[in-house]
Formats: sequence, C-alpha cells, structure tokens
Amino acid sequence: MSKKFIIIIGIIISIIVIGAIIAIIIVFATKNDDKDDKKHNIDIDDTTGSSDSTSSSDKTDNTDETDNTDKNDNTDKTDNPRDYHNNYIISEKIAILNNGIKMPIIGLGTWTLSNDEAEESVYAAIKEGYRLIDTAEYYRDEVGVGKGVKKSIEEGIIKREDVFITTKIMPGAYSNPDMAIEDSLKNLDVDYIDLMLIHQPGSNDEKVYKSMEKYYRNGKLKSIGISNYYTKSQVDKVLSFATITPAIIQNENHIYYQNNELQEYVRNYGIIIESWYPFGGRGHTSENFNNEVIVSLANKYKKTSAQIILRWNLQAEYIVIPGSKNPDHIKENYNIFDFELSSEDMEKIYNINKNQRYENW
Ligand SMILES: NC(=O)c1ccc[n+]([C@@H]2O[C@H](COP(=O)([O-])OP(=O)(O)OC[C@H]3O[C@@H](n4cnc5c(N)ncnc54)[C@H](OP(=O)(O)O)[C@@H]3O)[C@@H](O)[C@H]2O)c1
Repeated sequence: MSKKFIIIIGIIISIIVIGAIIAIIIVFATKNDDKDDKKHNIDIDDTTGSSDSTSSSDKTDNTDETDNTDKNDNTDKTDNPRDYHNNYIISEKIAILNNGIKMPIIGLGTWTLSNDEAEESVYAAIKEGYRLIDTAEYYRDEVGVGKGVKKSIEEGIIKREDVFITTKIMPGAYSNPDMAIEDSLKNLDVDYIDLMLIHQPGSNDEKVYKSMEKYYRNGKLKSIGISNYYTKSQVDKVLSFATITPAIIQNENHIYYQNNELQEYVRNYGIIIESWYPFGGRGHTSENFNNEVIVSLANKYKKTSAQIILRWNLQAEYIVIPGSKNPDHIKENYNIFDFELSSEDMEKIYNINKNQRYENW
C-alpha cells in the first residue's frame, strides 16, 4: 500500500468520524430542543392549569390564611379609586369578609314581613338561588325566617351551611346582651348565626359588642358587625374597643344617599358596606325606580329599574338586601348576573348622590 493511499484512507476515515460526531451532536442538540420545548409547554400548561384549576374555595382558602393586612396588600388596586376588587367576587356572588368567611353579595331583606310572609319569602328566595337572608330581633320575624330556612333544608334544597343568616341586636332592648343572642338563636332555631350586627349605635354598644365577641369566640356567631354607623368617628369608636374588627357595616345606602366615602375609609379594615333601603324603602320606591338616569339605563340594558339599582350595588362592591314579599320581585331582583354596567354608566349613578337619607336613625 502506498503512503499516498494510506493518507487518503486516513482522511476519509477522519471525515466519516467527524461527520458522525457532528451528526451525533446535531441529533443530541435537536433532542434537547424538543425536551426544552416540551418542558416549556408543560410550564405554560402548569401555569394555566394552576390558575384555571384554582377553584373559588382555593382562592378563599388562601385568603383565609392571610390576615387583614395581607388582604389589603393584595387588593388589586388600579388608577380608578372606584375599582377595588376588595375580596368581592361578583362572578361567584360572594364577598370574602375580613375574617375569611364568604358572604353572599345579594340577599333577601325581611323588614315589615310577618312571620308567615317571612317564611314564604325566605323559602321562595332560597328556591330562586338566594343564599343570604337578613332579619333582626326588632323585626319580630326571626321565627318565620328560621322556618323558611328549615323548610328549604328539609326539602333538600340547601344545607344549613349553604345559607347565610344575618340578625341584629337592638342595644338597649336587653340589659344582658348574651340573652339577646340566645333569644335570636332560639327564634331562628339554629346552632349558629352567620352574622350578628349591633342594630344601631346606643349607650351600651361596647357592652353589646363585647358580648358578640364572646359568642364569636365560642362559635355561635360566625361574623360580627355594626349597623347605622355613618361617620368615621362613630366607626373609630367601635374600632377603639373592638378586639375583633367588624366585618360589615349595614347602612341606609341607595342612589340618593351613597356611603362611598365611608366605604373608602372602612375598606382599610377590610370592612364591607351592606345596603339597606336599596330602593328607598316602602313608600319611596317610585322616586328611585323613576329616576331619569335609572330609567334610561333600564331601557339601555333591557332590565328593570330595580335590577339596574341592584347591579350598581354589586359593581360598587356593596352587599345588598332588597326587601320583598312578592315572589315575582324576589325572582327579578336575583336576575342581575347576566349583564354589566359600563364604568361610564356606573359613574352616572354615582352622580345621582345627593347625601339625602330617608331615615334619621
Ligand atoms: N339595619 C337597619 O337599620 C335596617 C333598616 C331598614 C331595612 N333593613 C334591611 O334592609 C332590607 C331592605 O330594606 P327595605 O325592605 O326596607 O326596603 P327596600 O328593599 O328599599 O324596598 C322594599 C320595597 O321595594 C319593593 N320591591 C322589591 N323588589 C321590587 C321590584 N323588583 N319591583 C318593584 N318593587 C319592588 C317591595 O315591595 P314587594 O314586597 O311588593 O316586593 C317593598 O315595597 C330590609 O328588608 C331589612 O332586612 C335594615
């Protein structure tokens, strides 16, 4: 074999070996790219999956574990001061209170209803999908409310834990507030009450509040709050003696008297405002329903005035408890989850406000 021939063979072998090495490197690199792509896809899927699969209860559970400060830090703030998203989830029909409890954002008010009317209306409302009922010892209809809830449970429509019952103590009505709580538990015929409020400020509200805190700690009251506290100083007074921050302030709140400033203040404590008299109360509904802005929006959205007002409450992050003993109205008032007011239209309703209350308590 000539030397020249051996060199040529050597070159050919070298080319083959180098080619093979390059081919192996290319194949290897391509495989790694595939892997990276797959991994990338998995990462995206995981991310999507984890956010998609985060159920409302997961979200709530997370919130449950954070304290109030965390919640405020987590508040999804935007440039629009009206745009809070403060633990208020319209799509799930709930708000998450500052103690982590979920509260439905629309419920049935029962003031002026007899026990029989309350029983029937509560039952009709629960069948319609309502999961929040508002009563008070003062209304003298707690027994009817309890019966309406019980009937719904017995018929398998709901379980006790599916419905959120609010009642109230009128300070001054009892020298021993513990007795008032025991009486409400007995009247409603329940083991626990979801939310108890001081009905109005009174000379002994600290004593009443302390009693509610005691029952909160023993589990018979799941949340506590106040009602008819309209000023910062009134709220500050409660905060000064409260060891458990009120979860709710239930106030007269409607298009002509909006609690927007108070809401801005109390949201710092994770407190949510709940609207009573959303339609102005019996005797004043027509001036609310016939307000020209409300009527024009009702025409625009093909909804009733009542539905526009209630939807405004939800988008303004108020919990709302329209009162009714009419099954058609009860149904109509709950049918507010299939449309959304634009921010311009929300603003039009905010602008109706003239700080005019109907009541003076
Ligand atoms: N914390 C407090 O001091 C306090 C004070 C007052 C009230 N509240 C609570 O807040 C709740 C709401 O207040 P409210 O009931 O007095 O007044 P409201 O909800 O402003 O108005 C109730 C009136 O609206 C009518 N109505 C309801 N839905 C309607 C509809 N879709 N179309 C036409 N009319 C309709 C009712 O008549 P029909 O019965 O015929 O439907 C009733 O006359 C009370 O029930 C009570 O639970 C709390």
